[in-house]
Amino acid sequence: MKCVESVAELRSWRRAAGRVVFVPTMGALHAGHAALVREARRCAGTEARVVASIFVNPLQFGPNEDFDRYPRTLEADLELCAQAGADLVFAPPVREVYHADRSIQILEGSLSRVLCGASRPGHFDGVCTVVAKLFNLVQPDEAVFGKKDWQQLAIIRRLVRDLDFPVRIHGLDTVREGDGLAMSSRNRYLAPEERAQAPALHAALREARDCWLGGSASADTLLSVLRGHLARSAPLGQVDYAALVDKHTLQPQAVADRSGLLALAVYFGKARLIDNLELDTTAE
Ligand code: PAJ
Repeated sequence: MKCVESVAELRSWRRAAGRVVFVPTMGALHAGHAALVREARRCAGTEARVVASIFVNPLQFGPNEDFDRYPRTLEADLELCAQAGADLVFAPPVREVYHADRSIQILEGSLSRVLCGASRPGHFDGVCTVVAKLFNLVQPDEAVFGKKDWQQLAIIRRLVRDLDFPVRIHGLDTVREGDGLAMSSRNRYLAPEERAQAPALHAALREARDCWLGGSASADTLLSVLRGHLARSAPLGQVDYAALVDKHTLQPQAVADRSGLLALAVYFGKARLIDNLELDTTAE
């Protein structure tokens, strides 16, 4: 596996490569990211090439967020990418990606108003801008994103549709720890007693989904089950939002149907954890 830091090296590698499957990341890689790279390898087969990017994108961090202290673990990340089957890692410094006097960016005006976007203004505009730039640089045929960041995945699909990127997007199921906690680079910020309560996010989502499977469809009922579970099992957590939305439009559902998605964001101290669960995984 090769690692390049400059746009010039990436471009010259890309000219010689055929079909490419791409996995964008911000590094601090864990088993969830490894699953994305393995999925990309599976999609690529032996003919196509797998590219991962490692870039902590300043544009998607708010002024009081963790850009400076976001974990940077390049050596271990490269090892993980190699093990998972990547052919190339693009790990540029900020100056290689953003011009000091840059003046053009992408604004998303609908899907980013809700859920995480409501409490992180500008975040998804930063994500869209960097992903558009990475797509232009890497020129992938396909790209793999995690369902853990469901809203991000929905917005990337919209970006590709609205700006006509010739990229097929794959969504991969959330990879979890043994106790159900969704793997995240931010889990390392949790104190031991917070870590012990964090699996409650997934457990609460499951209890609410079980309630739906048992015949309750009112959002009020499902969300009070969700919040009740969290209040009991994660008293250290502060709920940012608990929502029932349509999984494609991200608009709230008052009555759950098969396209319902339960989504949750909870603060433990400064760490903000997110998770979600589709009510019906067979419904498209
Ligand atoms: P990052 O948080 O590093 O995540 C990179 C990819 O890994 C995303 O598609 C995310 O959904 C996926 N991922 C993270 N944890 C996962 C888990 N437990 N199971 C499955 N997939 C998981 O998301 C970003 O970076 C950035 O916003 C980026 C798209 C790279 C743009 O800067």
